[in-house]
Amino acid sequence: MKNQLENIYKSATEALENASSINDIEEIRTKYLSRKGEFNEIKKGLKDLSDEDKRTVGALANEITQKLETGLKLKYDEFYKKELNEKLQKERIDVTLPGKYTQAGHTHPLTSTTNEIVSIFQNLGFSVVNDDLSPEVETEYYNFDMLNVPKDHPARDMQDTFYTKLAKNVVLRSQTSGAQIHAMEGKNPPICVVAPGRVYRNENINARKNNFFHQIEGLYVDKDITFGDLKGVLNEFIRLYFGASRPTRFRSSFFPFTEPSAEIDVQCIMCEGKGCRTCSGTGWLEILGAGMVDPNVLKGVGIDPDVYSGFAFGMGVERLAMLKYAIDDIRLFFNNDIRFLEQFKD
Ligand code: PHE
Repeated sequence: MKNQLENIYKSATEALENASSINDIEEIRTKYLSRKGEFNEIKKGLKDLSDEDKRTVGALANEITQKLETGLKLKYDEFYKKELNEKLQKERIDVTLPGKYTQAGHTHPLTSTTNEIVSIFQNLGFSVVNDDLSPEVETEYYNFDMLNVPKDHPARDMQDTFYTKLAKNVVLRSQTSGAQIHAMEGKNPPICVVAPGRVYRNENINARKNNFFHQIEGLYVDKDITFGDLKGVLNEFIRLYFGASRPTRFRSSFFPFTEPSAEIDVQCIMCEGKGCRTCSGTGWLEILGAGMVDPNVLKGVGIDPDVYSGFAFGMGVERLAMLKYAIDDIRLFFNNDIRFLEQFKD
């Protein structure tokens, strides 16, 4: 048994001498010293020896194990230092080198314009409803019927509105005004919300028109709301968005869901009112439609028009951005040309 022990010790020391990495050391440790290792296997035989032999062989076994452990530890430390140094050398970071530049994205000008407009209305007391309440894929019911748009109105025509194949009456919303219905249904005034969102129309694409664009709808319904309130809120919005010096005008208009209705124009930024191609020579550009909510619409959602009144408005986000930043082609927003977008880093 002694011989056996000594042989194992010899082969273990040889292995240790040939070891060249921490990995090797771990392998040797497992092979010789683990619970299932060679020493333990032999130590199991100790119990069959005479007391005398148990003592001497046992002592020898312990001595050898200890020597081996010390040897392993020494080598381990040596390799550990070596490997650590190699690693540090390899992964050394030269903090004096110039950094690698990664281009960070930034907010799209339509998103920042929407955010800016929405926050103006939030400061005026409006809360925001989002697409969960008023979806882009909408039924004719919300996009037209409940908004008092007659069945034979040309806006329903296939030429303006995209009809889906999901079902006969499912459309891509052509306006955010459906959000008015969603906001009023099952609720009691006061209701004071803005609803930003994307809308779709079957247009021929050119510098002024795209077949999808963005609108922000607004609605305020309560007792005693008048056209004066509408003018006050919208004038304040225009003052905050364009600054006090930009000329604006209210023009009477028609929408099936508001009565009376108005459109608001701001002076064309390209020609400062002189008349140019962008404003078709008029000097003005329309930015929003508005009006007092038609009593029929209120009735439809169960709000008594004899008790409550309200105003609604809808504005085009692209238009508002174009007029603020003097952008003369709506398609620039959607081409994702980095040279255009980079000008809007905040
Ligand atoms: N929905 C109308 C449009 O898209 C704008 C509008 C909204 C008009 C609310 C009046 C009231 O042209």
